[in-house]
Amino acid sequence: MAATATATTLLTLSFFFFTLVNSHQSDPDPQSSPECANRWIHIRNLPPQFNLDLLSTCSLFPLFDDFCPHLPNHGLGHKTHNNTRSWFRTDPFMLELIFHRRMLEYPCLTPNPSAADAVYLPYYAGLDSLRYLYDPNYYNFSSHHGLNIYQFLNHHENSPDIWNRNNGHDHFFVASRPAWDLSQPLSNDPPVWGTSLLELPEFYNVTVLTFESRAYPWQEVAIPYPTSFHPPNTALLDSWVSRVRQSRRTTLMLFAGGGGVSASPNIRRSIRMECDNSTGDGGGDGLYTSLCDFVDCSNGICEHDPIKFMRPMLQSTFCLQPPGDTPTRRSTFDGILAGCIPVFFEEQSARKQYEWHLPEAQFGDFSVFIPKEDVVFKGLRILDVLLGIPRGEVRRMREKVVELIPRVMYRKHGSSLGLRSKKDAFDIAVEGTLERIKSRLQEVSVH
Ligand SMILES: *[C@@H]1O[C@H](CO)[C@@H](O)[C@H](O)[C@H]1NC(C)=O
Ligand SMILES: *[C@@H]1O[C@H](CO)[C@@H](O)[C@H](O)[C@H]1NC(C)=O
Ligand SMILES: *[C@@H]1O[C@H](CO)[C@@H](O)[C@H](O)[C@H]1NC(C)=O
Ligand SMILES: *[C@@H]1O[C@H](CO)[C@@H](O)[C@H](O)[C@H]1NC(C)=O
Repeated sequence: MAATATATTLLTLSFFFFTLVNSHQSDPDPQSSPECANRWIHIRNLPPQFNLDLLSTCSLFPLFDDFCPHLPNHGLGHKTHNNTRSWFRTDPFMLELIFHRRMLEYPCLTPNPSAADAVYLPYYAGLDSLRYLYDPNYYNFSSHHGLNIYQFLNHHENSPDIWNRNNGHDHFFVASRPAWDLSQPLSNDPPVWGTSLLELPEFYNVTVLTFESRAYPWQEVAIPYPTSFHPPNTALLDSWVSRVRQSRRTTLMLFAGGGGVSASPNIRRSIRMECDNSTGDGGGDGLYTSLCDFVDCSNGICEHDPIKFMRPMLQSTFCLQPPGDTPTRRSTFDGILAGCIPVFFEEQSARKQYEWHLPEAQFGDFSVFIPKEDVVFKGLRILDVLLGIPRGEVRRMREKVVELIPRVMYRKHGSSLGLRSKKDAFDIAVEGTLERIKSRLQEVSVH
């Protein structure tokens, strides 16, 4: 049964992609589409081995996850409830699929690569990394990740001029993983962890959209993790935003996540201890009935069940976003969606990441920063810092967070025209990519 369901999903997907690709690309006509000037994008036609075939092996990597259940609705996953139109059990790793589907309704597509300002590769780079990460037969070849598509693009039968025109500087694709998973030195084969996609000179010139960039990024730019909220129209977005504004926040701070149980000092452990210690404690002059709420998401139990954390987030003023295996977390965006003010403990968790979506200069307006060393080694209490922020200031910060909601969410594909006029995470990512490519091309032509 499951296999049949998957096959049907795939058939529908490929049919859908096929019809859209062939109906929506029109020739650039600057007269009739002045709004598309400098924004034309060509979608490279790739063989299925670089995208759809990678979905058909969705159950092959048990060490990772059987990700077949996350494929429906073009990667948004199943709805959380039968009667919802906006909430899905979205797995962030499906962003490559979600992004591809959204690209197909981008208003300035052109079938003519030489008229395009950028070339999008619908390559599911993160899904293609799974075999190198989780299949022992591929461990030793992690430096090969990406070479196939490079060879395809430069093969004499596949119009290599599309790549060569700008040496790949105008190409971009999505790799929905932290860059850490894709940036092992080429000489480390077999590596401790990860592939070398971002280390291959073949890809130095492209723009890669990831969940997290390296401390010294080169090709990659970080874009938001998808959350579970994908509204199809303005009314549903507006009603969520007003619910967020009206929500009574009876908890000062919340941490939704796992970890922190080891004996060695780290920020998650400090949070856990502070939270345990504050149980039953009211505070903030009776403003709060609880100072700290700990939603235990160990073993991935919250991942596809947004109800578990969204409700508590709606009831909290601050959401703690400590680093885990890597500095960034999806939870940062779930929290923003709930109007919960993020508290960061590392600059790499967001400030140094999402330059397009969360402008660095405004960070202090919508978030709190507490260096993790001060908490872990100097005994600074997070509660004290947060309780010390004046109420008016908290209100202002929350309003800024609420204003960010449309920018960090990925609206549903095929959404209403009204909602399309508001820039969401996808629109901002594409806009940033076009700008980045434009300045890259200018630099190259100067040198
Ligand atoms: C949701 O709808 C499907 C088909 O319409 C039905 O089979 C299923 O029982 C419903 N689930 C719930 C929880 O109502
Ligand atoms: C991978 O490399 C290791 C160490 O060089 C070797 O022991 C192992 O047999 C290799 N595995 C495969 C599948 O080639
Ligand atoms: C990257 O661009 C440079 C020029 O800017 C070019 O010399 C180099 O060959 C390009 N790399 C690839 C793999 O196309
Ligand atoms: C827990 O509370 C006690 C008493 O208020 C305090 O002395 C101790 O430092 C607290 N521990 C932590 C980890 O906050």
